[in-house]
Amino acid sequence: MTDPRLTDRRRLLQLAVAGAAAGWMPRAAWAQPRIVDNPVVLGVASGSPDATSVVLWTRLVAPGLDRAATVQWEVAHDERFQRIVRRGQAEAMPELAHSVHVEADGLEADRWYFYRFMTGPWVSSVGRTRTLPAPDAMVRRLRLAYASCNRWEHGWFGAYRHMRAEQPDLVLFLGDYIYEYAQAANAVRPTDGVRTRTLQQYRDRHALHKGDADLQAMHQACPWICTWDDHEVYNDHSGGLADDSRRGAAFIARRAAAYQAYYEHMPLRAAVLVRALAGVQQGGEMRLHGEHRFGRLAQLCVLDARQYKDLQACTPDGKAGSGTVDPATCPQWNDPRRSLLGPAQEQWLDGRLAQAGATWTVLGQQTLFGQRDMQPGPGQAFWNDGWDGYPQARRRLQAALRKHAPANPVLLGGDVHENWVGHVLADYGRPDSAVLGVEFCGTSITSRPGRGRNEAQRLAENPHFIHGDASQRGYGIADFGPRQLEVALRVVDDVTQRDTGVATQARFVVEAGRARVERA
Ligand SMILES: [Fe+2]
Repeated sequence: MTDPRLTDRRRLLQLAVAGAAAGWMPRAAWAQPRIVDNPVVLGVASGSPDATSVVLWTRLVAPGLDRAATVQWEVAHDERFQRIVRRGQAEAMPELAHSVHVEADGLEADRWYFYRFMTGPWVSSVGRTRTLPAPDAMVRRLRLAYASCNRWEHGWFGAYRHMRAEQPDLVLFLGDYIYEYAQAANAVRPTDGVRTRTLQQYRDRHALHKGDADLQAMHQACPWICTWDDHEVYNDHSGGLADDSRRGAAFIARRAAAYQAYYEHMPLRAAVLVRALAGVQQGGEMRLHGEHRFGRLAQLCVLDARQYKDLQACTPDGKAGSGTVDPATCPQWNDPRRSLLGPAQEQWLDGRLAQAGATWTVLGQQTLFGQRDMQPGPGQAFWNDGWDGYPQARRRLQAALRKHAPANPVLLGGDVHENWVGHVLADYGRPDSAVLGVEFCGTSITSRPGRGRNEAQRLAENPHFIHGDASQRGYGIADFGPRQLEVALRVVDDVTQRDTGVATQARFVVEAGRARVERA
């Protein structure tokens, strides 16, 4: 007898492929479900661009909609859709929450387009998107916004309204797009109170976020390139494990549900889901990491430091998840077999760094890269969930940066809910060791930092950082040019206010060819 899950999976695979195909045949008018209210309430989004194509996303939400519906889409040069470039139909299927992932291809490199969706009498809002420059093109400018950590209950997404006003070419989202928690103390706004576990619950949590007007508008304004961290699934999970007590099938099923809901709500290529279907129910991967070339100006490698990582080492009191550890007390700490990216991704990244040919080599990854000793004076204390908890894996990436010497490495991160800016050293134990690149680890959009931070003390203890601030929420704007990179750390005045203002916490400049970050 055929395993029913296998049959389901194959069907899902067929649906995913069909849904993304540009030439899907229209269904007869009588077979199209009647939708009474506008079903495009979650907005539109675009993402995963390359030089000739981009993914266009939307999702239909309508009471009682339990059948597939045909969605028409158009891409145009103008906002009024008089100069149509591409058009087609896609199927919004209940098996994928009526999400639509269109891969609009045959587009010209390095230009902006408008797009929209239609179903029955309903027309979506108009989205704006762009292609990347051709890989060999000379490019004068890339404005990249980077962000992470959208904790719904911790505040409003007003940061995205200000980000939109800065007209970035791309948003790089570095993880924690949703949080799975039921609720938060002193919530600024409530969730549904559910700790997400099932496919429907993860869908509901994503839909809650996509209902936020400022987040929706930022998706509408430019393409996003996204990776995830732990909270898209479960706090502090590593590899296929939530923790020692949740090992095995139950967690794998939960992770597969979370991954599917993530796919359904993000502008990802159908291939991401199709490849995952081979094994995600059995603990196999859903691959997000990849490379994006912005002409000869920037090579962006987006990493996944969550899905393949080994379990955190020596979390205190035998607890699961993360904690602060004195490495001298932890026998596994320096075990070279422990990996944060997993062996296959490490190898892939090594290959990408060996091929780097752009002015800027940008690594978008989840978390703080540089060593951050939290124990003032003698002795060391490290948080074991990030790169600090995987020192041999970090050493391998440092070695790859030395060996391949890609031009001007820039590491972008998130996760810590604090802004950290500094130098990537060849050896963090030797402050005078070679500088391999620069690092900007960004604060959260809303998520609160941990308590009791003392940035001045931490900066003194870790002098490879030149800036540390836990007090403010926001995002970063990175302007890459042929000669220099300028980064502005933008922070909101009050995350609890929907109409919050914005300010610049600090500005930095990096000259190309000179691995130094300086305050501007
Ligand atoms: Fe977070």
